[in-house]
Amino acid sequence: MFATMGALGLAPTAQAAPREQPFRAPGAGDLHLTGRAAATVVIVGGGIAGLTAAYELGKAGYDCTVLEARDRTGGRNLTVRGGDTLTDLHGTRQTARFADGQYMNAGPARIPQWMVTLDYCRELGVPVEVFTNVNADAYLYNESAGMTAPQRYRTAKADVYGHVSELLAKATDKGALDEELTAEDRERLIEFLKDWGELGDTLAYEGGERRGYTTVPAAAGTPGVPLGDVPTASEVFASGVGRYFSFEFGFDQAMLMFQPVGGMDRIPQALTRAVGARRIRTGAVVDRITDTGTGVTVTYTQGGRTKKAEADYCVAALPPNILARIPHNLGPGVQSALEAITPSSAAKIGLEYRSRWWETDHRVYGGITETDQDVTHIWHPSHGFHGERGILIGYYNYGADADAYAGLTPRGREERAVAASVKIYGEKYRTELASSFSHHWRQTPHLEAAWHNTPGGPDAPRYQPLNEPTGRVHFAGDWLSYTDAWQHGAFTSARKAVTALHTRVLAS
Ligand code: ALA
Repeated sequence: MFATMGALGLAPTAQAAPREQPFRAPGAGDLHLTGRAAATVVIVGGGIAGLTAAYELGKAGYDCTVLEARDRTGGRNLTVRGGDTLTDLHGTRQTARFADGQYMNAGPARIPQWMVTLDYCRELGVPVEVFTNVNADAYLYNESAGMTAPQRYRTAKADVYGHVSELLAKATDKGALDEELTAEDRERLIEFLKDWGELGDTLAYEGGERRGYTTVPAAAGTPGVPLGDVPTASEVFASGVGRYFSFEFGFDQAMLMFQPVGGMDRIPQALTRAVGARRIRTGAVVDRITDTGTGVTVTYTQGGRTKKAEADYCVAALPPNILARIPHNLGPGVQSALEAITPSSAAKIGLEYRSRWWETDHRVYGGITETDQDVTHIWHPSHGFHGERGILIGYYNYGADADAYAGLTPRGREERAVAASVKIYGEKYRTELASSFSHHWRQTPHLEAAWHNTPGGPDAPRYQPLNEPTGRVHFAGDWLSYTDAWQHGAFTSARKAVTALHTRVLAS
């Protein structure tokens, strides 16, 4: 009956919630029942992929050891709080001076609903809250297009949709699309455009309430004063604001999005607890990976001493740019595949303010301001509303912009970011600032990348030695997925490696 209901669309079907390939975690019984002993596994890298491999294999009783070069697990999942000290590859040392309870997510900071990351949050008991990725009241500011003041998203959208709708409606009305559309289609299209663009009966866009108000509607006697100065179509196109609107259609960026309560690193913290701290060696810098034919030997340096981890198998879960520098005997196919994948730059600065003036003065509660200046994205916090303090992400930028900021002193970065955004928000952007912390992934020891470029995509033939186990070494990481730069990629890649390893052990 259930199947019949499904066919009639009355019962949930697989299409209702598109999932990745089903994953069955290895279970305790899998090994006992087949009389096999739990294999030992050395996992190189304690980021999301490495921790997930240890966590999932641990469910079946595998004896895993995780080697992590940094002093904390999580890899690029990094939350910075007051008192945290980080030193970059230039030797620049910063200690965050954020107040208690304040934090910045230097790496991943938003989670789409469809990603497996949320399943891990549920399973591990990590509470989540909404992350506001798009906000009608956030700003757009294109200085190079001659804008001298920011515009609210809602205003820019009303104008772009309005003018595009007007042009298309008028062209349709004049018969320009008669070859493409039936009379009925044209009528329906014009109806849609009148609604979409808030057009009048003459099909003209003349502004409207969607643009916003200078005095908002309130009690009787205060109908509101709509924003004036509706720009012409030509002015709207010249401003370039329309380029920001497709972002929210992205499969990986559409609202709603989520974040863990208290910081993204609640995820690796929970994984670390679940794996067991005794299985994880931090400050362990891998020097060599050797497949011995009957096992894998990983030599590493920890506290100035050279040590060895020996296991039946290895999961290599370091970034490819770091792995490529570690001597191994896995062959030239592995090496050339690792070298083909190149690291990308991205950076963020957290600006802590004494007051949440963007909420009180600008009425902006969360969301992102977009600009053509080198700060690129300015993030308003999606938590702590109406609190005393808050941290804005004063830049989230990529490539040459990120590297340019990385080349400055922390003070220089702060000054440059503030000078850019004072133009958008006014003087409080400078005067209310309490402290800042800036972070650049290309310059971060043991990671040296925000994410990676994999020419040809992860399934290109040259990456086969990484997608299949090479000898006794399996590889995992977001960089071996179609969702590079997302934790989902690391989780799903780790699951793939775990499945392959476990299948192999059961068959051995
Ligand atoms: N996944 C990263 C982001 O959302 C790149 O910004």
